[in-house]
Amino acid sequence: MIEGLVNVSDFERAAEEKLDAGVAGYFFGGAGDELTLRENVSAWGHWRLRPRMLAGLSEWRTETELLGGEIALPVLVAPVAYQGLVDPEGEAAMARAAASAGTVMCLSTLATMRPRPVAEAAPGGRRWFQLYCFQDEGVTRALVEEACECGYEAIVVTVDAPRGGNRERDRRTGFKIPAELGVPNVEAAVGSGRAITIEETFELMEPALTWSYLEDLASDCRVPVLVKGVLTAEDATLAVEHGAAGVVVSNHGGRQLDRCLATADALPEVVDAVEGRGAVLVDGGIRRGVDVAIALALGADAVLVGRPALWGLAVGGEAGAHRVLDLLREELHLTLALCGCASPAELGRAHVQRAPAASLYSA
Ligand SMILES: Cc1cc2nc3c(=O)[nH]c(=O)nc-3n(C[C@H](O)[C@H](O)[C@H](O)COP(=O)(O)O)c2cc1C
Repeated sequence: MIEGLVNVSDFERAAEEKLDAGVAGYFFGGAGDELTLRENVSAWGHWRLRPRMLAGLSEWRTETELLGGEIALPVLVAPVAYQGLVDPEGEAAMARAAASAGTVMCLSTLATMRPRPVAEAAPGGRRWFQLYCFQDEGVTRALVEEACECGYEAIVVTVDAPRGGNRERDRRTGFKIPAELGVPNVEAAVGSGRAITIEETFELMEPALTWSYLEDLASDCRVPVLVKGVLTAEDATLAVEHGAAGVVVSNHGGRQLDRCLATADALPEVVDAVEGRGAVLVDGGIRRGVDVAIALALGADAVLVGRPALWGLAVGGEAGAHRVLDLLREELHLTLALCGCASPAELGRAHVQRAPAASLYSA
């Protein structure tokens, strides 16, 4: 079945056909009018590549360095909650797909498995852990400890969700996380046994985080801490000044503040503000290898994909998620070749320019 799917959009359509309305609404949807959800995708199309010719290359590589280690492609799997809703093996299958694709999986706090069994499912794989800070500090601390103990190489603290966004698709379908699914980190905070809404889940988290909280977390933690959900130069500067090893330019895939900046539009100012003092990653709307190349040319060290990997998992389990990552790798490989670059590290600002104004809204 997955053999006939030749790009990420094909996986998107196949996933939409397969999932029931409530689950599809949760995974596909965004906040409010979903303008940011759509703009995350279209904003990558507002840049054009400036390819260079006669570079004398016959080999190209997609491997890249990130936080001191090498990955096979600069595309990571973003933290996406409740993967057990679309595949019986859930996060374990996603971890194996990321490992066999040679990249990092970032596990969500709202996963349907604890950090340890996910690590055990893909022992050779590389993993980061995404942290939502619970009001119950003991729950937060236990999670960070478990992740560090079982080889998660970074903590990615999500800062764009002091409350859950206005997800109208979920309100329309009355979507709840089924009680039988099991979300162990949430159960640690509230006990198990009943279906809860996404809004109720966010109410368990500490809304009043501060930069000094981040600084304490980063100094207590034995692995690097990245801040996910930064959209401005101001916050990027504060993040690196308060001990972050890097930032993820993200608007939560358009699921939190509708009408905030598309991530492709926020990325350049964040790269300029960080000035090489930390890693800069970006997610939101990456659907093509060309999008990855544009993000790298604008100065990102790597990108993450949320929905694309999830669509792969929903359509074809581990093999489906692996295929999505492989398609992005193949497309990036071709883009590098056609741009005259031997590797991702060779892409720079000279390889991109804004699209002519007339073409911005026509494509
Ligand atoms: C269904 C779904 C669940 C998500 N759950 C989380 C989460 O638990 N923690 C988090 O930091 N981000 C979460 N995100 C945001 C993603 O990590 C990422 O920022 C976003 O999906 C990127 O946009 P993309 O889906 O267009 O690639 C979620 C996104 C989706 C679509």
